Amino acid sequence: MPIITRSNITIDKNTPVIQFTGVKNIMIKNIKNKVEKIEVFGKKKVLIIGANGMLGQELVNVFKKDSDYEVVAWDRGDIDITSEKQVESKVTKLKPAIIINATGYNAVDKCEEDKKEYEMAKKLNGKAPGYLAKVAKKLKAVFVNYSSDYVFDGQPEIPEPEGCSHRCSACSLHENFVPQIGFDEEAKTHPISNYGKSKVLGEKEVMKNTKAYYIIRPSKIFGEPAKAENAKRSFFDVMLEVGKKNKEVYPVKSSSAGRPKAEFNGVKAVDEETSCFTYAPDLAKKTKEIIEAEKPFGIYHVVNGDPCTWYEAVLELYKQAKLKTKVIPVLGSEFPRPAKRPHYSVLLNTKLNPMRSYKDALKEYLKSSK
Ligand SMILES: NC(=O)c1ccc[n+]([C@@H]2O[C@H](COP(=O)([O-])OP(=O)(O)OC[C@H]3O[C@@H](n4cnc5c(N)ncnc54)[C@H](OP(=O)(O)O)[C@@H]3O)[C@@H](O)[C@H]2O)c1
Repeated sequence: MPIITRSNITIDKNTPVIQFTGVKNIMIKNIKNKVEKIEVFGKKKVLIIGANGMLGQELVNVFKKDSDYEVVAWDRGDIDITSEKQVESKVTKLKPAIIINATGYNAVDKCEEDKKEYEMAKKLNGKAPGYLAKVAKKLKAVFVNYSSDYVFDGQPEIPEPEGCSHRCSACSLHENFVPQIGFDEEAKTHPISNYGKSKVLGEKEVMKNTKAYYIIRPSKIFGEPAKAENAKRSFFDVMLEVGKKNKEVYPVKSSSAGRPKAEFNGVKAVDEETSCFTYAPDLAKKTKEIIEAEKPFGIYHVVNGDPCTWYEAVLELYKQAKLKTKVIPVLGSEFPRPAKRPHYSVLLNTKLNPMRSYKDALKEYLKSSK
């Protein structure tokens, strides 16, 4: 049976014409005598906003590799999505089939202490996704928006085994029952920071304005730094630099008399705030998969496996980077920050195939960024 792909069809401007959009391989039976010429139009137009950001640049890479898409990559210079007027006119004119909003206000602490900054967070993370969702609905486009694990308070419900009366302290049903602790896609949001509140507002605005949405929640994104001049580097990049600076052995006076003892200088890392890392290229690929699989619209959790604390992540990083820098676990209170962080914000993915461990993703990242 012949398989018709973009590369092996004849394109003719004359009719009869069959139009396929966004389909990679099409198997067609019994058409030999009915259709002589087939024209494939319709690369799907995908608009990626925030295209110079850490995630945005990976989305552009992933979609550009696929000849079924026409990629339009916009950043702040092309559109200010906090202006409803700009969103309405510019996006309507473009008529994309898919709109992906990878912008974000991510200064968690700044918007906790500064009212003006919080207003900015609410505009960019909260209201703007609503403007985009509204236009997406008008254009019948699919809309993708990214939220965060910080929409949760850090106190997940502990699940009981099925059939348990919830009144026992440990009935036999608890034997061999390993609860999955974390927040699933439908868990109630309860943010404890202004940043988290702005993200919840964004989720609500999207849901209010269109039905054809994917709200994707990642956490702790890492990958190549964004293209922007003052772009924030991810945790791993920062800790790698800190680790390299602090790896030298230096003599420390021993408390007992005698020769100075050689010790490692070290770095401190918070051994709290258990959550998952998300590798930007994995998130970009998964976003495309979700869209192409036409998954039911709704909320998705896209994070790499192996939840950990910041301290555990640094240990893994230094192990992989072969750095002997000493890492000291500390409480969050050693680094007081204006915004509260959830103590435990592991996102449970109950709707998609599990993602690889962040350790494997980190290996790939360190190799690629050498
Ligand atoms: N990074 C994380 O750890 C993390 C964790 C959980 C969720 N998220 C969410 O994941 C998404 C992607 O995050 P990211 O880290 O890739 O973000 P990012 O690197 O900060 O990139 C955001 C991009 O959006 C652009 N932008 C900002 N304001 C804009 C506006 N008003 N109009 C148009 N473009 C604008 C920025 O341009 P400029 O550079 O010119 O400002 C930047 O290129 C965001 O929704 C974020 O909240 C991130």
